[in-house]
Amino acid sequence: MTSDSNILISQVNGPNMVTGELSVVTPARVRAMRSAMLCRCGHSRDKPFCDGAHVRSGFSDPAQLPAKIDSEIVGTGSLTIRPIANGPNRCEGPLMMLGSDGRTASSTLTFLCRCGESRRKPYCDGTHKKIGFRG
Ligand code: FES
Repeated sequence: MTSDSNILISQVNGPNMVTGELSVVTPARVRAMRSAMLCRCGHSRDKPFCDGAHVRSGFSDPAQLPAKIDSEIVGTGSLTIRPIANGPNRCEGPLMMLGSDGRTASSTLTFLCRCGESRRKPYCDGTHKKIGFRG
């Protein structure tokens, strides 16, 4: 891991904290950022960002990586985060994820759950379609 790495740490019962060289792209604007707190409970009124709704909604998740992970070696560079309407955050670029249990995974194209209901958090597993997630 270098200082140029983009790192995601899911907070226990809270948002995804991402640090690095980030661009968060929404229909309204493009934000260049060094860190972002991304909603992963599905209830923020300021999506894709956290507004604290995880506390109000009682969101509960241990922030561990799934048991089975496909990981790849990634380099450095910028990470572009694009929320897909009614679906996950599409993250293009090198990203290292740290679980609360100390395990890691890396990828260059990552779809992060933002509906709160995936069984493979932090990854999207398609559950947003079943629950009719809007956001
Ligand atoms: S955004 Fe949550 S499962 Fe896809």
